[in-house]
Formats: sequence, structure tokens, C-alpha cells
Amino acid sequence: MLDTTKKEKNKSLYAIPPHSPDFWRAYAREKNAGPLKKRCMRGECWDAAAATYDDLDNCKDYMHQVNSIIDGLRAFGALAPGNTVLDVACGTGTYAVRMAPYCKKVTCLDISKGMLAKLKEKRDRIGVGNLEIIQADWNVYDTTERFDLVFVSLAPLLKDMKNLDRFLDISQRFLGLVCWAGIKENLLFNSLCEEIIGRKPDKRHMDIQALVNYLYTMGLAPNLRFFHGCWRRERDIERQAKTLIWQLELYRPLSRDEKALVYKRLERIAENGKVGVNTKVRTGFILVDKHADNFTC
Ligand SMILES: C[S@@+](CC[C@H](N)C(=O)[O-])C[C@H]1O[C@@H](n2cnc3c(N)ncnc32)[C@H](O)[C@@H]1O
Repeated sequence: MLDTTKKEKNKSLYAIPPHSPDFWRAYAREKNAGPLKKRCMRGECWDAAAATYDDLDNCKDYMHQVNSIIDGLRAFGALAPGNTVLDVACGTGTYAVRMAPYCKKVTCLDISKGMLAKLKEKRDRIGVGNLEIIQADWNVYDTTERFDLVFVSLAPLLKDMKNLDRFLDISQRFLGLVCWAGIKENLLFNSLCEEIIGRKPDKRHMDIQALVNYLYTMGLAPNLRFFHGCWRRERDIERQAKTLIWQLELYRPLSRDEKALVYKRLERIAENGKVGVNTKVRTGFILVDKHADNFTC
């Protein structure tokens, strides 16, 4: 919901009809304003998350989502032997290494050196030959190359419709997007956030409805599939604390005492030195085929 107290700011938004892409551009701008977005755009922020990012690979629901998306891309012909793929904000390459066997080449772009170091390790370990890895900020990245599929998953870049325009420009045919879809609830994090930051976690992260509507108002027909999951990460106290502190520091830097509080809480609930943390999530996968309407009737 839009914050209706910001009357002045929103006056122009309500003046735009919702069947216009301009409405959804303005909606996304309003919804995603604020410092959290800026922090998520920095490479160093993600470098700090790289060490524990792939812990999710052990989560059944998460891997079900990843594998179903790969299957979906293959079923639509977006992943095919002759096709080239650009994975924007690829992170540690969870999707890239799984797309690579089904296409000609995957170009992996990310701002974070730390995330890409993990991807390189993985590429060498599994032996994937058709990955190109580029460390770059999407906001300044310039290329004349075009790709059969442009793929973007859970990236802060999805908060800005200007990026969607560029993804569409650079794609010859397919665009695949994975985005949060309204539910992202980690009870332990919620309570630490209230206790330390003094408020509930920010719910203003990008939601899939703006992406779907934006694409639709642009004349495209986005296919949509939802995934419901419990993303469980079982880790030792040190590893779990690092992740929680990273998440909290998206709001502001924590003092030494505040960090100690996170450790204390984890020690209280740990069993045999381990803590399992669940995040209830709903995500959505959008697949656009720019040629979907190229048929005669
Ligand atoms: C939540 S991770 C998602 C990683 C991967 N796509 C996945 O689904 O596993 C977000 C990624 O966006 C990258 N990122 C954030 N801002 C970026 C930018 N301006 N240019 C390129 N990558 C960016 C981060 O470095 C991080 O790896």
C-alpha cells in the first residue's frame, strides 16, 4: 500500500492512470525510496554476504524453486543449445551454473568481487566451460551485445523500472525475473530488528506486482509462477550471527554491545552449538517472451 500521508508526493502518482507504464514507474520510485536501497547497491555490502550466501543450497524449498525455474526456462525455449544468456546481478552463480549446460554461453555480471570469487570457485570445481564473468556495476555497464535471455534474480536493481527498460533492450527475446512476492518473514530477525533498530523490518522491498503490471502496461504478456517456501538455514552460532548482523547493518552500523546481543540471543536458543533459522517466503518468477505476439491469425 502507498503511504497516503505523503499527499504531495503522491498527488502526481494518482493523477496517472494505472494502465500507463508511467504509473508503475512512479509507484516503484515512491515505494523504493530510502537508504536501504542505496546500501544494497554497494559491492562491499554484498562482499560481506558472500561467505554464507550459498548456505541456501542446503535448503529443500529454495532448491525446488531454483530447479523449477531452470525447467521453466527450458520448457519455454529460453534456455536452448544455441542461446546466449546474461545473468545480471548473478551473485555466486546459483542459477548461472545450472543454466550453462543448456545453452551456448552465460555471461555473469555482478558488482561484488566477493560474490564472484565464490562463483569462480564453483565454476572451477564443477568444471563449467561456457561462463564469462564480469565484475561491473550494472548502472554504468555499457555493451552493444544482445542476449537471447536476460535473467535477473532477487536483485535490488529490480526496484527501478529504468533497469527493466534496459533489460528489455538488451534481450533479443526472453526476460526472466525472480522477485519477492509479498511474504518474507523471519521471526528471529523481526524480533532482533525491533529490539536493536527499534522498529519492525522494512516491508517496502520491491514487490512483484509493480514488475508484472509494468510489463503488462508495456504491451507484454508476463508469465507468472509463485513459489511458497520455508527457507531454513541451519548454521553454527558464529555463521548465523554474521548473517543476522549483516542484515541488521543494512539499516545502520551496530555497536559492539548490539552485536554481542545478537550472539547472546543465539546462544540462548542454540542446540549442540547450532541454530536453525526459518524464513517464510513467497517469491515469483516472471518470464516474458517478446515474440509471443508474433503469430498470424
Ligand atoms: C540477493 S543477491 C542475488 C544473487 C543471485 N541473482 C541469486 O538469485 O542468487 C543480489 C546480488 O545483486 C548484486 N548487485 C547489487 N547491485 C548491483 C549492481 N548495481 N550491479 C550489479 N550487481 C549488483 C549483488 O552484488 C548481489 O550479488
